[in-house]
Amino acid sequence: MRAAATGIKDVAKRAGVSVGTVSNVLNRPDSVSDATRRKVQRAIVELGFIRNEAGRHLRAGLSRTIAYLVLDASNPFFTDVAKGVEEVARENGVALYLCNSDSDATREGDYLGLLAEQRVRGILVTPVDHDTSQLDLVRRGIPVVLVDRSGGDNWCSVGVDDVEGGMLAVTHLLEQGHRRVAFIGGPISTVQVADRLRGAQSALETTGRSPEDLAVLSTDGLNFAEGLRAGERLLGLPRARRPTAAFCANDLLALGLLQQMTRSGVDVPSELAIVGYDDIWFAGAAAVPLSSVRQPRELLGRTAAELLLAESQDHDDHVHQQVVFHPELVVRTSSMSRTDQSTAAR
Ligand code: RIB
Repeated sequence: MRAAATGIKDVAKRAGVSVGTVSNVLNRPDSVSDATRRKVQRAIVELGFIRNEAGRHLRAGLSRTIAYLVLDASNPFFTDVAKGVEEVARENGVALYLCNSDSDATREGDYLGLLAEQRVRGILVTPVDHDTSQLDLVRRGIPVVLVDRSGGDNWCSVGVDDVEGGMLAVTHLLEQGHRRVAFIGGPISTVQVADRLRGAQSALETTGRSPEDLAVLSTDGLNFAEGLRAGERLLGLPRARRPTAAFCANDLLALGLLQQMTRSGVDVPSELAIVGYDDIWFAGAAAVPLSSVRQPRELLGRTAAELLLAESQDHDDHVHQQVVFHPELVVRTSSMSRTDQSTAAR
């Protein structure tokens, strides 16, 4: 049976001093004599005492742990964002819990409840959907910052202008001479997807194209397998109606589409140009380097963590900030015309 955890009273008894003296040795070592400090430290080592930092900080109302509840831990976008969060946490002597809702609202709610019980200092979250009712409850006691989402001026949030990102991607494809473009992504109820689609549609509008020139292939998720399936659907279209370019709502979809084209002997970019979104590391490393709309992932994470720590410090007179970064189009082989490719190769 495990020995009961050694407490501060056990240390005081072993050292022959008061609990207050042990507390002084731990928190104000300069306030006790060398002899007393050595006696207490010897008792700590002999008993294997470990101070209860979590309990101490909870009593002070300030845990030294924050949490980031991501939408999909298998998507490098989120782990890149989490890297930025972790850097700021470490710089501030704070630990990070990383939780994965896996795009499931029930799991998201379970984690929010668990983190509230842990009384973490604050929670960063990329919400599964528009419903923030659970987040509203949690944030009555714990600061919450939205990541990759805006919630209006009543929240701190950090994100990227996804409408601009969609415009960048499709404008590029139209400028490459493509007339019929596919938008691949879903569910459309996902805020990021809806905004990127809106940007794609705006690109057609501003260049005087018909909305019919954008073929929307909605998917059940934003992952590699859905990209493979979208590729099959695209190849199933009659040649006359088949788009010659595709803008995918994220890189995992684009990489799945790229693999499906390669398996089917369809040349990328000459038969199908592809642009993804996020510019995760794998985009540039793909067999056909993938063009992508870059999100500043680590900067998103750093900024979100800084907002959260600031809100946890000055809770009462805190003014919520909504930080929106601009995306950047990174053009690579998967969407370059032959001319561009020969120029780029020089
Ligand atoms: O969660 C899916 C996508 O939304 C990620 O790939 C990233 O683009 C985020 O904005």
